[in-house]
Amino acid sequence: MRSTASIIRVIGFTLFGYLFVNYIGSTGDTSIFVEQPWLWAVLAVVVLIYLAIEISLGALENVLYRTLSAEAKVNYDQERAKVKANQFRWVKRTYKKLVGGKPIEMEGEIILDHNYDGIRELDNKLPPWWVYGFYATIIFAAIYLVRFELFKDYNQVDEYEAAVAQAKVEIEEYKKTAKDLVDVNTVQLLTEVSDLNSGKSIFEGNCVACHKASGGGGIGPNLTDDHWILGGGIKNVFNTISEGGRPGKGMVAWKADLKPSEMAQVASYVLSLHGSNPPDGKEPEGDIWLDPDAPVEEIEVEVIDSTKIHMIIEDQPVTGDVVNDSIQ
Ligand code: HEC
Repeated sequence: MRSTASIIRVIGFTLFGYLFVNYIGSTGDTSIFVEQPWLWAVLAVVVLIYLAIEISLGALENVLYRTLSAEAKVNYDQERAKVKANQFRWVKRTYKKLVGGKPIEMEGEIILDHNYDGIRELDNKLPPWWVYGFYATIIFAAIYLVRFELFKDYNQVDEYEAAVAQAKVEIEEYKKTAKDLVDVNTVQLLTEVSDLNSGKSIFEGNCVACHKASGGGGIGPNLTDDHWILGGGIKNVFNTISEGGRPGKGMVAWKADLKPSEMAQVASYVLSLHGSNPPDGKEPEGDIWLDPDAPVEEIEVEVIDSTKIHMIIEDQPVTGDVVNDSIQ
């Protein structure tokens, strides 16, 4: 366990173990080690076992060495020295070749004639690694020139647009499988029958005790009229369901019990009851809520004098006309 080779073996084993488990276990972009952190412990135990094996093999070799006769020991040592000298021979040779320097004892061959106050110059060749790199850039430049300047394969703008289009497709794909990504900022009114039906069953399972099956209200307010205590529209309603009503009023936060997708469904279902005007409906509570994004039905402006106008904005007429009457 003292040789470089055994240290490299242990590092290699660890790396292999990590990459192997990562390769067979990971799904998508997240590493299995992130999803299942206990695998680190398993890996650590396996590496420890491997270390123990390395150490005991080393010790065994040591014991066996002691049992050898003096002659055999010399033989063995020579063998070892030879193996050691040949270790990493390929790496060493390639390194030397790529660096290409002359060993100090041969510098006499490449020393130049001139001599400036005792300072002399060696005529070293360019290191092969550098020369090969330079050739590679020449080949790259030639191919690049032909492909992009002569044949105009594609340019940066095309590349960018393709990448953006691809990303959009991937986002759509992702959103389809990750419905629970919705939050109060991204939630949208769902109109699919299947979503509304799911919303209805969630409503019947959790909300009717206080809001009645019709949404007409009981302990909780009427959810079918134009009046909202905490604001109407999908975003506010989603937020109320997720975070609850005012403290002490009885409307709890549902985010612990319902998934974001379920809250979006039940919020959409609640809004689909708007204007249904159930016979047992409670008196309206809160303010009339005007959707700032809703299409305006009609605007009437009456000029009173040079500093005042009378403006009537009519929108969402559901239970009679909803009119925003203001003098400015
Ligand atoms: C324990 C009774 C109770 C239950 C159960 C309940 N609510 Fe409420 N809800 C209330 C009360 C009380 C309020 C008024 C809160 C306030 O005044 O701040 C309210 C308010 C609301 C509001 C806002 C109304 C407004 O005028 O702004 C919405 C939307 C709502 N509830 C939806 C739901 C949904 C959806 C469920 C089922 C997941 C549900 N509630 C379950 C009692 C309840």
